[in-house]
Parts: sequence; structure tokens; C-alpha cells
Amino acid sequence: MAKRSFPLAKAYTLLEPGPVVLLTTASGGQTDVMVQSWHLMLEFEPPLVGCVVSPRNHSYGLLKASRECVINIPSVEIAEQVVACGNSSGRNVDKFERFGLTPVPAKVVGAPLIKECFASLECRVVDTGMVAKYGLFVLEVVKAWMDPAHKEARTLHHRGRGRFMVAGETIQLKSKMK
Ligand SMILES: Cc1cc2nc3c(=O)[nH]c(=O)nc-3n(C[C@H](O)[C@H](O)[C@H](O)COP(=O)(O)O)c2cc1C
Repeated sequence: MAKRSFPLAKAYTLLEPGPVVLLTTASGGQTDVMVQSWHLMLEFEPPLVGCVVSPRNHSYGLLKASRECVINIPSVEIAEQVVACGNSSGRNVDKFERFGLTPVPAKVVGAPLIKECFASLECRVVDTGMVAKYGLFVLEVVKAWMDPAHKEARTLHHRGRGRFMVAGETIQLKSKMK
């Protein structure tokens, strides 16, 4: 393979870990939705997830104050709404109302689920040790929801600069992983 030098600033586009998600938060009567692609699994059980949230985002303050959030997983059908949530701030717009997303009360946490997303993970912040340095919140998933009709959901994967890969076919191979 004839590989060429690749810009370091674009290295993340080759390693993007998982689907683009919509992170919902709520605190002091305010609710917000943030697009997120920088997240990683840290543990199977209890499920632990690392999420990078920039202090420039309105969601950061809500997450820090409430120590709770919901990771909602959208599919390609609502791609336009997802991108719109990433190009605006909850500081000056109610994204649920503006972009036609429906908040649904969660069971365990204060932040809402998003009805239009095929899966939602209710989370509590369990470690803030790397927030000051990296904006990295360690979350424990305390309740998970999944629409069984969407097992083969076509998720969005960020490739940088408005480009997304859409997940396709699932293949089953022998593996020792869970
Ligand atoms: C595809 C995509 C992925 C993003 N991933 C992240 C991320 O992982 N962490 C982050 O802090 N912001 C991320 N952003 C930026 C926020 O979604 C954006 O700044 C948003 O406007 C913040 O909204 P808020 O101010 O209402 O919290 C991403 C944006 C897009 C479009």
C-alpha cells in the first residue's frame, strides 16, 4: 500500500470511535442538546463511557452542575437535525423546539431522552478527574433504552468538516469479546 504523509490535525477522522450521539443535559430549569462524537467505552459492566465536552459549550455547565446526562443515538434519518444541533447553542435557542426533537422524561436521571433517537443511555458522572485537563467526563450508564425495530440502525460517524460515514451491514464473526 502506497501510504502518504497525513495531516496530524486529521488523524482523528481515521480513528473516530463510534456513532455521533446527541447528549442531553438539564439543570436549573434549562435543557440542552449537544452533538458529540468524541466518546469511548471504558468498561463493560457497569458500563462506563468517557465523553469529551468542551467548556465552550453550554452543555458543559449543565453537565457539571447536574452530574447527569443522556446519550441519545440518532440514525441517518434525522441527520439534518443532528447537524443543526451541532451548529447552534442552547444559550440562545431551545433546540428541541427549533429542530423538532421531542423530549421524553428519563426514568433515573433529570435530563430527557430524545424520542426520535433509536437508543438512549441514561448516565451519571462518576469521575471528573480529567475534566479540567481534557474536558473528559467519565459516565456510568445507569439505564439503557433501545427500539427493537431499529437493531440495524444506520448510525452516523463523523469524518470531519461536515462529512459523515453511514454505518452499513453488520457481519458476525467468531470472537472472544462479549
Ligand atoms: C459531528 C459533530 C461532533 C461534535 N462532537 C463534539 C464533541 O465530542 N465534544 C464537544 O464538546 N463538542 C462537539 N461538537 C460541537 C458541539 O456539538 C457544538 O459546539 C454545539 O453547538 C454545542 O451546543 P451547546 O452550546 O448547546 O452545548 C460536535 C459537533 C458536531 C457537528
